[in-house]
Amino acid sequence: MLPTLDIYFGDNLPILRQFADESFDLVYIDPPFNTGKVQKHTRIETVRDKDGDRVGFQGKRYKTITLGSMAFEDVFDDFLKMLEPRLREAYRILKPNGSFFLHIDYREAHYCRVLLDAMFGRESFLNEIIWAYDFGARSRSRWSAKHDNILWYAKNPEDYVFNYDEMDRIPYMAPGLVGKEKAARGKTPTDVWWHTIVATNGSERTGYPTQKPLGIIERIVKTHSRPGDTLVDFFAGSGTLGEAALRNERSAVLIDNNPEAMEVMARRLAFACPKWHGYEPASQPNPQMNLFDKSEEQ
Ligand SMILES: C[S@@+](CC[C@H](N)C(=O)[O-])C[C@H]1O[C@@H](n2cnc3c(N)ncnc32)[C@H](O)[C@@H]1O
Repeated sequence: MLPTLDIYFGDNLPILRQFADESFDLVYIDPPFNTGKVQKHTRIETVRDKDGDRVGFQGKRYKTITLGSMAFEDVFDDFLKMLEPRLREAYRILKPNGSFFLHIDYREAHYCRVLLDAMFGRESFLNEIIWAYDFGARSRSRWSAKHDNILWYAKNPEDYVFNYDEMDRIPYMAPGLVGKEKAARGKTPTDVWWHTIVATNGSERTGYPTQKPLGIIERIVKTHSRPGDTLVDFFAGSGTLGEAALRNERSAVLIDNNPEAMEVMARRLAFACPKWHGYEPASQPNPQMNLFDKSEEQ
C-alpha cells in the first residue's frame, strides 16, 4: 500500500484523543522548548541599490530587504503541565512494540525524563541521544550549549524496532588507524550525533523557525520503524518528520496549531498529496518543490 499523509490543524490534545489506542508505530515530538521567547525567523534578501548601505565587490552598493517572517510563541506558564496530558496520549496511541522520541533541550530534559519514567517505566528508557552541532555565538561566561537532547522510550523494552543495518554510517575520526575497507564503510553512530543545523540558505530550509535537520529525523525513522508503518508528530512545525517518513515508505500524521506551519507543510509536502483536516491551505503545490524528484539524489 502507498504511504499516506494526514495533516491536522489545531491544538494537538483534542485531536490526539480522537485516535484509537495502539494505532501508531512511532511517535516523535519536538515541542517548543519553553525558552520564554517568541521563535522568529526572518527571511532577507540582498539586492543591488545605488543608495544601499552595504558595499560589495567592485564598490557596488546593496541593500537588504525583508521578505517576510514567521513566528510562534515559545512561552508557557507551566511547560510540564502543558506537556503531561500530551505525553499520556502519546503513550496510549503507541503500539505495544512502538517507540517514542522526545526532542527537547537541556533546560527541560531532566524534568521530562522523570515524567516519562513514571509513565513508561524506567526500564523503557533506552537512550538519551545528544544531537551536537556547532553554530552561533559563544558565551564568555559559561560553556556554550550546542546540543539538543532526544529521549528514546520503547513501550516494551523487550520488543522494539532497532534496524541496525539501516543506520547511515559515519566516517572514522582516524581512518588511517583502521583497514581501508572499514574506513570506506564508515562506522555506526553512537548516542552522540554530530550534525549541522539546517543551513540558512540550504535547499532543505523552509524558513520555519526551529526546523530540525532531515538527517537527524531520517536516522530515527529508518532505525526505529519499518516501511508501511504509521508515524505521528503532533508538534509538527515545518513537517520534517512527514518528509522523513514519506521518503522512506512510511505513512505520517502531522498536527500543528500554527497556520504558518500549515502553509509551510503545504508547500514542502505537496508531493505526497496530503489529506487536510480542519485547514484549507492557501499555497498551491509547486512542482519545483517536489522532494521526491529522483534526479536530485543522483
Ligand atoms: C519546535 S517546533 C517543531 C519544529 C519541527 N520539528 C520542524 O522540524 O519543523 C514546535 C511546534 O509546535 C507547535 N505547537 C505548539 N503548541 C501546540 C499545540 N498545543 N498543538 C499543536 N501544535 C503546537 C508550534 O506551532 C510549533 O510549530
